[in-house]
Amino acid sequence: MQLHFSSGTASLVGLSVALIVVIWLAQLIGRGLSVRLKFRAMRSRGLPVPEPHSFLYGHIPLLKTLKEGLPNDAHDTYVHRKLTMNWPKYFPNQKSCPPVIYLDLWPLASQPFIYVTSPEACFQVTQQTAQPRHPMFSWALFPVTGGKDLISMDMPTHRIWRSRLNPGFSPKNLLSQTPILIEEVGTFVQQLKEKAGTDGNFGDLCHLYDRTVALTFDIIMRVSLDLQVREQTRGPTPILKALRALIRHVKGPNIWSELERWTPSYRQDVALNSKILRDSLLPQIKSRLQPDASSEKTVIDLAVKEYKNEYGNENRQPSPDFIDTVISQLKLFILAGHDTTAQAICWVLYEITKSPEALGQIRAEHDEVLGPNVKLAAQILSADPHKLNSLRYTTAVIKESLRLHPIASTHRRGSRGFSFACDGTTYPTDGAIIWTSPTAIHLRADLWPRVMEFLPERFIVAEGHPLHPVKNAWRPFELGTTKCIGEELAMIEMKLVLALTMRELDFHFDWEGWNALQGRTTPPDSVGGEHIYRVGSGIGSVKDRLPTRIKLR
Ligand code: HEM
Repeated sequence: MQLHFSSGTASLVGLSVALIVVIWLAQLIGRGLSVRLKFRAMRSRGLPVPEPHSFLYGHIPLLKTLKEGLPNDAHDTYVHRKLTMNWPKYFPNQKSCPPVIYLDLWPLASQPFIYVTSPEACFQVTQQTAQPRHPMFSWALFPVTGGKDLISMDMPTHRIWRSRLNPGFSPKNLLSQTPILIEEVGTFVQQLKEKAGTDGNFGDLCHLYDRTVALTFDIIMRVSLDLQVREQTRGPTPILKALRALIRHVKGPNIWSELERWTPSYRQDVALNSKILRDSLLPQIKSRLQPDASSEKTVIDLAVKEYKNEYGNENRQPSPDFIDTVISQLKLFILAGHDTTAQAICWVLYEITKSPEALGQIRAEHDEVLGPNVKLAAQILSADPHKLNSLRYTTAVIKESLRLHPIASTHRRGSRGFSFACDGTTYPTDGAIIWTSPTAIHLRADLWPRVMEFLPERFIVAEGHPLHPVKNAWRPFELGTTKCIGEELAMIEMKLVLALTMRELDFHFDWEGWNALQGRTTPPDSVGGEHIYRVGSGIGSVKDRLPTRIKLR
């Protein structure tokens, strides 16, 4: 069958399309104009709008200037760092670093950003009067979780689910799971030993980041669902492959990502990988619902228990919606819980290896708390997991590494009903995306003496000591009602890795060897003189997946 259009119909269609384009353009220009005028008005009221602000391009040229001197693959965290560390240049009229910074990135971002750089302002938005997460998060996560997860939920539903899920992540429950964690960290250490050289030499290059990703993935699957995936020994496993395929679609909303979501290839990819994940997780979830499930300690077991308690009925079977939400939450745990901790482990091993003094102290602490026989450390910790709480210096090392290398942050919704109030000034937030920035707060020289030095002592000295952290200034896991649910788990994982590697292995982070192996002839990229830096976007990763050589001690 052939369709015939008359020339009149064709010109009508053309006219309609042209009209839609004109309306769309007019709206776009109108929106841009109103954003720019708003910023002009804010600047004239003395609000912290960094210089220069161009009427045509907003802060996009400033962003470009801040990126100068940074490698192309450097993470945005370094741009933020430059803005706040060099604040006098960008805020010539301010006497100190402003507590919040207004950024106009339209049309790259549809809404202005408010970048929060002070502990007091962060406290206000996340703890004192906690504001809801910005919806861009739920939009970005949708391909992975389908929207039924802690990050995407509205605040009342979040409260219900958070109290169901908290028991599984409580310090008491996690300590009781320590033997399982030790088993997984044991596999990790064994694999590193296999990479070590012979006769006291460093071995071949490996990518430590790959090993830590596999470790943290195995751990989150066991802790949340008692599912032994064995990514470390049998990977890449279908669950991680499917999750990674979905993570590729986690993007902030913009014209390109919005268009992508309409394409058949996006829909097919999401449907296929969601099915793989559901088929892998559902049987295990169902098995945990049986009264004779082997243990009752996983996050999901305890969530089901809470659910039954809510109804005062031990025999109540979870509804299909409950099960769908559990699958969604599990996907969030895997997503939020593996890359973050994997990177954090890399950074702490990197920092401690660079500091012979800290290395000496951490080894001495392990001798003292875990006994001089390194071969018995895992056994001793399995028998008495509370010993982890005695590793004060080790904990301080991890905290200091997270200070220098914070990995995540939070985005909250600005509104007419919420303004920041700092030092007698009110900072409105209506129509903006509020973005807390541990990167900025952790590297403010006025808050942290000897700011760029790796000084674990900060987290040991008593209150009143000049090195003691200012209240609310350390926030790698954020603070408040939606703070990271996995903080304790991540801390235990990191302590175990340090406790079981530091006295047995030496690490050499060999970017030079890796460059040579790649046949790179140009000088290697660096940030602040370091060739190992954070790359990518979102959570990102470690440059070249942290090329490492290992030696047995
Ligand atoms: C070093 C490792 C980690 C870091 C730096 C980190 C950091 C963060 C940050 C900054 C937030 C945002 C909090 C907010 O918006 O208020 C968050 C939320 C979250 N994290 Fe983590 N995280 C880590 C490990 C983990 C692990 C191991 C899990 C495992 C389950 C996890 C699960 C989550 C979840 C579910 C949320 C949302 C919490 C809620 O809305 O109630 N994270 N994390």
